Amino acid sequence: MKKILIIEDEEDLLEVMQTAVESLHPEYKVTPCLNYLTALNALTNQTFDLVISDQNLPDGTGGKIFQILQESNKKTPFVLCSTATPNEIPELKDQEIYGYLPKPMILKPLKELFQKFNKEHNFSEDNLPDYAQVKTKLLIKTQPIPCDLFIRLSEKKYVKILNKGDIFDSQDLEKYEIKKMPHLYVLRGDLDTYLDCTIKTILLALKDTTNATDVEKELKNIQLSFHALQETFNKIGITPAAKELAKTVADKSIQVVSQNKNLSLLLSKMLKSEEEYSARHSILLSAVTTAFASAMPWFSETIAIKLSVSSFLHDITLTNNDLAAIDSTNELQKNSSKFSEKEMDSFLSHTVDSASLARSIENLPPDIDNILLQHHEKPDGSGFPNQLLAQRVSPLSAIFIMAHHYVRMFIANNELTIEHFLTLEKETYAKGSFLSIHKELSSVYIEQNT
Ligand SMILES: [Fe+2]
Ligand SMILES: [Fe+2]
Repeated sequence: MKKILIIEDEEDLLEVMQTAVESLHPEYKVTPCLNYLTALNALTNQTFDLVISDQNLPDGTGGKIFQILQESNKKTPFVLCSTATPNEIPELKDQEIYGYLPKPMILKPLKELFQKFNKEHNFSEDNLPDYAQVKTKLLIKTQPIPCDLFIRLSEKKYVKILNKGDIFDSQDLEKYEIKKMPHLYVLRGDLDTYLDCTIKTILLALKDTTNATDVEKELKNIQLSFHALQETFNKIGITPAAKELAKTVADKSIQVVSQNKNLSLLLSKMLKSEEEYSARHSILLSAVTTAFASAMPWFSETIAIKLSVSSFLHDITLTNNDLAAIDSTNELQKNSSKFSEKEMDSFLSHTVDSASLARSIENLPPDIDNILLQHHEKPDGSGFPNQLLAQRVSPLSAIFIMAHHYVRMFIANNELTIEHFLTLEKETYAKGSFLSIHKELSSVYIEQNT
């Protein structure tokens, strides 16, 4: 048994770090500490094989913990986990420490650190169990769940309870808490995906970021972009009323997004790169979804805002801007030489990731997560992640999928009007919610013009 002390004042992060470390080897036992004083207490009463600490704790620092370890005769190896580098911390400057985990991307260095640790302790990484434990109560953070989920019936028997992309809600949580199941299980091969998604969501949802941008700047950006798009709007045939509406709705949805500082940071980064595909694509998409929605008999501004917010968020977790131009897993394979393995993974999980992100953000209107999750589904069931058939795609998602399809085609061919698109794709959208949306759109964009 190897005893590991982890000190981190952000409770969710502490728990997911504990999950991550304990899942790496059955012989690891983590003692979690939320502050300096309890850590000090643990260090006085027990011996640890490794200490991992955050720098800024409410009642002390990681640097101080390192000093205490140095002064004791045990000399326990110390790992810093912080946004600050060891050289920025007086007690650690020019000192040799066992490792450094730079926040927020801590998962990969954490795994590498334990590979080194295992080697030094002659721990084999073979014969690890096929399933890894995850904390039940943390599952609610990453919605929809990024991988299949299991319960354990006996040492060898596991039963699947939810599929990747399903929702684990507060009722599920209550059910497993009543059954006294603090842990559920994921396949070992899925563990990284789960941990990656959880850590990202937790760190993004944290409220106190240092370099928060203000709403004003983003609004200006959007207004400028809309100005530049006037000609485009005329070209594609958006009605004058829908054009005005699109502007108001985009302003309001940026305000919604900007209530979360991390999100607004991500968004402003994306919008700043105006030349890039994803910025142009998102802004145009926001206008087209609004225009499409306004043609529906069930239209309301709230609905348009949901679609517009989704336009800004749908590809926000992609790690490479060019990935936003990819539409299907086939297309990804064809272009695989352009992207790293990590970038390809980020594409395959971006529907689930952005939906998780949306769910983790307080006060975001409902339904956005579902639109994000379904935005690469196709009416014939060939989409991803869930290969949904037309009948199972929600009306809001259907509008988004059609608008997204149109915007992609328009960016490739600047002559393509909405009218043209509707005629061209009539067969594609002949089922489920797509059919009635296609009809309503045709009555505004085709019949009126003829
Ligand atoms: Fe996407
Ligand atoms: Fe997209």
